[in-house]
Amino acid sequence: MHHALITGANRGLGLEHARQLLERGWHVSAAVRNPDAATELAALAEGEGKLDIHAYDAADPASAAALAAVVTGPVDLLFANAGMASGETRAFGQAAGAAMLDEFRVNTIAPLALVEAFAGQVEASEMKVIALQSSRMGSVRENESGGAYGYRSSKAALNAIGKSLSIDLKDRGIVVLILHPGWVKTDMGGPQGQLTVQESVSGQLDLIARAYGNPVMSGRFYHVSGQDLPW
Ligand SMILES: NC(=O)c1ccc[n+]([C@@H]2O[C@H](COP(=O)([O-])OP(=O)(O)OC[C@H]3O[C@@H](n4cnc5c(N)ncnc54)[C@H](OP(=O)(O)O)[C@@H]3O)[C@@H](O)[C@H]2O)c1
Repeated sequence: MHHALITGANRGLGLEHARQLLERGWHVSAAVRNPDAATELAALAEGEGKLDIHAYDAADPASAAALAAVVTGPVDLLFANAGMASGETRAFGQAAGAAMLDEFRVNTIAPLALVEAFAGQVEASEMKVIALQSSRMGSVRENESGGAYGYRSSKAALNAIGKSLSIDLKDRGIVVLILHPGWVKTDMGGPQGQLTVQESVSGQLDLIARAYGNPVMSGRFYHVSGQDLPW
């Protein structure tokens, strides 16, 4: 049975990843801020696959190591999905403040801490895939509307981290995908989003399946459609 660890799995894209992987018979370790409140996630335990729910706060630098103490065994897919966008860092004139550090803690540093804590377990697995949930908003080239200082820069920095990871983990057979899920109807994406969570996640899982044993995909920034995005 393949094993995935997914952060931010209590709602939005992370919840749908858990649902679709469980349907495919995977073992899913779901990492969420508040396990007691993750009722929609907990209900998925009744289907196929195997579900474990663990406490994890991406804003706490010690949380990844604590998670690695309880999530044992090989991890075929490590999915750093949890993310946030602060309204306080959106507009020019008031963006540079403490909220920007929160975005960097959650969107940038936490995924790296997760990979540092779990690289050995990913290496020990059959698939050896790491997915970083980035955003097209982190593309410097594609920025045509400005603003979103904290979110854009924290995702651009995540992209830089993903590229370094792809190089540093290459000899261990690990493939690192940097992903844009599309504009998706979630709490973050809002109701105007162009894709449903089902559409986005099935596209992302197709990309992940292609990445298995395919090192040429490592360190690239992919739109959910499968196209490369510019940095
Ligand atoms: N939706 C889009 O259009 C879109 C586009 C590009 C990229 N993305 C990225 O996709 C990922 C998922 O977004 P989404 O659309 O599913 O958003 P969402 O519905 O707002 O869900 C965000 C998830 O991240 C979790 N999270 C936030 N801060 C956390 C923390 N400190 N520790 C642990 N978990 C934390 C949330 O947990 P709580 O429920 O506890 O808050 C929630 O599970 C994010 O990285 C986002 O940047 C989304």
